[in-house]
Amino acid sequence: MTNPLNTDHFWMPFTANRQFKSKPRMLVSATGMHYRTDDGRSILDGTAGLWCVNAGHCHPKITEAISRQAGRMDFAPVFQMGHPLAFEAATALAAIAPEGLNRVFFCNDGSEGVDTALKIALAYHRMRGDSLKTRLVGRERGYHGVGFGGIAVGGIAGNRKHFGPALAGVDHMRHPLDIGRNAFSRGLPEHGAELADEFEQRMIALHDPATVAAIIVEPVQGSTGVILPPKGYLQKLRALCDRHGILLIFDEVITGFGRLGTPFAADYFGVVPDMIVCAKGLTNATVPMGAVIVRQDIHDTFINGAPENAIEFFHGYTYSAHPLACAAMLATLDVYKEEQLFERAASMAAYFEDAAHSLKGLPFVKDVRNLGLVCGIELEAIPGKPTARAFDVFLKCFWEKGVLIRTTGDIIALSPPLIIERSQIDELFGSIAAILKAQQVLPQSATVPA
Ligand SMILES: Cc1ncc(COP(=O)(O)O)c(C=O)c1O
Repeated sequence: MTNPLNTDHFWMPFTANRQFKSKPRMLVSATGMHYRTDDGRSILDGTAGLWCVNAGHCHPKITEAISRQAGRMDFAPVFQMGHPLAFEAATALAAIAPEGLNRVFFCNDGSEGVDTALKIALAYHRMRGDSLKTRLVGRERGYHGVGFGGIAVGGIAGNRKHFGPALAGVDHMRHPLDIGRNAFSRGLPEHGAELADEFEQRMIALHDPATVAAIIVEPVQGSTGVILPPKGYLQKLRALCDRHGILLIFDEVITGFGRLGTPFAADYFGVVPDMIVCAKGLTNATVPMGAVIVRQDIHDTFINGAPENAIEFFHGYTYSAHPLACAAMLATLDVYKEEQLFERAASMAAYFEDAAHSLKGLPFVKDVRNLGLVCGIELEAIPGKPTARAFDVFLKCFWEKGVLIRTTGDIIALSPPLIIERSQIDELFGSIAAILKAQQVLPQSATVPA
């Protein structure tokens, strides 16, 4: 008999540790659309891991590229040194980025990418000699990772309440979720673009836009429950930033690499920001990596503005452009291209949308919202037990249906790998539907996560 696993020492992130450890949900291997559990069950991955395994699990081309690189050169510094893969990786990423965004700063994940972009924004204005522009603006219910910069511009109360005093000098726009007017929208909601105008008026009254350095938004807010931009809203934000010399940063950590059927959400919306933060699907999540893709003239302001032989931007990570990550990234971008996965996602979006909206009318379903291969299903909370209803569906999906979903509050968020088949879309939504239909009675045993 094997020793039982000791679960005491791993302090699990963003997890109700006691709940998990009372009945662990262990994944031990993965391939394509499925995980396998320690008790030998196959689990359909409805969340691409954590919005990241876009090409499906353990793609041989990617895993082989990583093993090859691990045997050739494990690590090389990129502080005052270089290795060719880093430059190749930056070139490959620039090639699929929107026109004009062609300089790449590498980091290790989305949180570092956000903090890097915010630092570039602040330093850029300073380098141009505009020391007034120091205010950063995010959005309520925005999620930008867990670095101090990211939680400052992020708008999640739970993520901010313990660290609030350190988060000065930021402001927040209202989020555009408006179930009253937009419930069960298919694709982009009709109502809410005026929030961008309202913010401009408030900002002028309150701060003077001359003090604002950058606005950061997720084109589609994911982690807080799939909040879609109303029609015309992102275009208005772009125009507002142009009017006031404010940098627009798109946090595309989840929308990058085909989630909406295009390389970036910027392409989907036809709105080009000044910087894009990406991670996750960048390496198909095989090796941690993040990147900030920057407009060339912003980069050039640093490079040309510093004295000869001086470090132009005082920032970087030991593992920036790590050789294994670069190898993984180059192979991943090849796979996306060769297997036309972005186009595949686009062609599956209508079927996914129909399947998602088939849940309308089921018990406790308050809203369904979707775009590309992303969907949010908002449930009515059990009175006095917020989060419990959705978490109960999550547990039943895992234990009874062999399906992995993700919940945030009382919202189910789905973001499957882009290789999902129609029958698997049916399985995903069919499992949720069956559980909701059986939910006429309030679950007594539901556990409330932290
Ligand atoms: C929009 C967005 N930004 C940043 C992050 C943080 O990324 P990471 O967890 O890789 O630091 C996430 C993570 O889900 C995200 O969704």
